[in-house]
Amino acid sequence: MTQDKTTHKPVKKAVFPVAGLGTRFLPATKAIPKEMLPIVDRPLIQYAVDEAREAGIEQMIFVTGRGKTAIVEHFDVAYELEDTMGERGKDLGVLESSRFVPGDIITVRQQVPMGLGHAIWCARAIVGDEPFAIFLPDELMVAHKGSTGCMKQMVEAYDRTGGNLISVLEVPENEVSSYGVIDPGAVDGSLTQVKGLVEKPAVADAPSNKIISGRYILQPEVMRVLEDQEKGAGGEIQLTDAMAKMIGDQPFHAVTFEGRRFDCGSKTGFVEATLALALEREDMGSDVRAVMERLLG
Ligand code: G1P
Repeated sequence: MTQDKTTHKPVKKAVFPVAGLGTRFLPATKAIPKEMLPIVDRPLIQYAVDEAREAGIEQMIFVTGRGKTAIVEHFDVAYELEDTMGERGKDLGVLESSRFVPGDIITVRQQVPMGLGHAIWCARAIVGDEPFAIFLPDELMVAHKGSTGCMKQMVEAYDRTGGNLISVLEVPENEVSSYGVIDPGAVDGSLTQVKGLVEKPAVADAPSNKIISGRYILQPEVMRVLEDQEKGAGGEIQLTDAMAKMIGDQPFHAVTFEGRRFDCGSKTGFVEATLALALEREDMGSDVRAVMERLLG
């Protein structure tokens, strides 16, 4: 299952498809991108970007659309804010992780919503000839205390395997039809060989209950496959279908993340993430616990 470490290039670029309309969170997302909704005091996109940086990724490529400029603003220098805070002697550390070296945030527009595969393909010129990561920011991956984030765990696995990697997790069988599902092969610790992939199968047709959980490391060849990719599930151009065609040509593995995942694309998952992270915060955890006890009677 392993390859020589010297045969593959490091992962330095990440693509964040953020052009989605966020209809599940209307009216909150009428005027602000869903990726800017905060979990406690950080927007969702910031968690994904922090996870990327922890994994050694340097260039963040946002595939955006109309009405999504707040995401780019968030990672810019906020001159008036910083100047005023500085004058008042306020700590600017809170803004640190949302600042970037010029050139390390790149945006490209997906003009029409045609699916995840199409969104990724929109970034082809910026990705170029390098392996790259993909983050679906709706999937909030939280490391266990003292452990590393999902993408860092994947990059470590990639150092051994090369090829293509996706993060997977197990869901109850009746939920598989909302996701991309893998046909699993040999298992080696947290690594599972991927023998097949299918996007949003009917429960009866699903090859397993291991679903793609929103993190990928892919070889640039996927862009050429996406170029001719026909529409799949939901009438959209699916990344899963393009990846399925690459199985066999290159190593393809799934990594089971050791940590927690919150599905922030759903309202319940979003509230769960908010409560879980608030309860763990040193500055507010005990207050939140007291509030919850009061609410629950
Ligand atoms: C996308 C992918 C799917 C993956 C899921 C994870 O689906 O197409 O393979 O399992 O994200 O959240 P979407 O949620 O965009 O329908």
